[in-house]
Amino acid sequence: MKALIHSWQTRKQILSGLSSYVPLLRRRFNKGTRGSDSARYCYSVWLRHLLLAAESGWTCSQPVVAELGPGDSIGIGLAAMLSGAKEYYAMDIIDYATLQKNIAIFEELIELFRKRADIPDEKEFPLVKPTLADYSFPARYLSRMELESCLAKDRLDKIRHSIIDPKWPGSLIHIIIPWHDPQVIPPGSVDLIFSQAVLEHVSNLELAYRAMHRWLLPGGLISHQIDFKCHSKASEWNGHWTYSDLTWRLIRGKQEYLLNREPYSTHLRLLRQEGFQMVCDRIQRHASNLRREQLAPRFRNMPSDDLTISGAFIQATKCSPIPAR
Ligand SMILES: C[S@@+](CC[C@H](N)C(=O)[O-])C[C@H]1O[C@@H](n2cnc3c(N)ncnc32)[C@H](O)[C@@H]1O
Repeated sequence: MKALIHSWQTRKQILSGLSSYVPLLRRRFNKGTRGSDSARYCYSVWLRHLLLAAESGWTCSQPVVAELGPGDSIGIGLAAMLSGAKEYYAMDIIDYATLQKNIAIFEELIELFRKRADIPDEKEFPLVKPTLADYSFPARYLSRMELESCLAKDRLDKIRHSIIDPKWPGSLIHIIIPWHDPQVIPPGSVDLIFSQAVLEHVSNLELAYRAMHRWLLPGGLISHQIDFKCHSKASEWNGHWTYSDLTWRLIRGKQEYLLNREPYSTHLRLLRQEGFQMVCDRIQRHASNLRREQLAPRFRNMPSDDLTISGAFIQATKCSPIPAR
């Protein structure tokens, strides 16, 4: 019975992947990512990264921040700007955001910061990770005085202008979509690089880690929440590791991206290889119902730990010097 369900699931996923070759049907794949299209989501995600960075001992006043995969809006980056970031780079491979959405989210974020609202928690966003022990506004890391200068009228006007016209020479916001080349940001120019639910989609992870190392200043921080689950592509949360490479290619079809299917241990290896030192490692686990022989050959020897790691929040600093390549 299980085998029957599995093959029915597989066929359904392949059909969906094949439909991406039909131009009219392909549109539904690029509709949006349904995450960063709400100000409260963006506020919640940014404050989680900021709070945990501060708790990892990372301090930097007026950092330059960069985000991989902002998705439906640049709202998470705008939340960073409203809490003191000097400049923001947004890098994606698909431009989902619209000016109207970015502006609406920006105005809502200003109100959330003015009120020093608590961080929206698991009740409001049950799927958002990492979870926190305390969701009250992180006043110890964002004082009233600091916030006042972040929310000063002149500064808000400058950010608004940058949202409307990121190509303006004085713009504080740089939108680089699509990005494929590490040269898009000058080396050693960024203090913090973050992403939320993105690194599991990046096709060339090694290039991404190498690029992040190049962009960061020494002592700079990367902060990433990664979701290793199958994103509804299988009946088990880790069922995407049962598909052969050919089946997975058919499931992906002509979509710009799907999942790179790399488990947690790949990220650990790349962090070390590309010259990062982990400062925060929060793993999320799910029991696995799969037997090793059900895994596709490529995954059959994966470390046992990977099979139960469904997500991870990692923060790491750039070690200097850059490792020899
Ligand atoms: C699940 S969405 C997450 C969006 C947003 N971070 C959020 O929290 O809602 C994944 C995003 O990763 C982006 N993405 C995929 N491959 C990428 C790459 N190589 N570099 C940057 N972004 C990428 C997608 O275009 C999409 O915007």
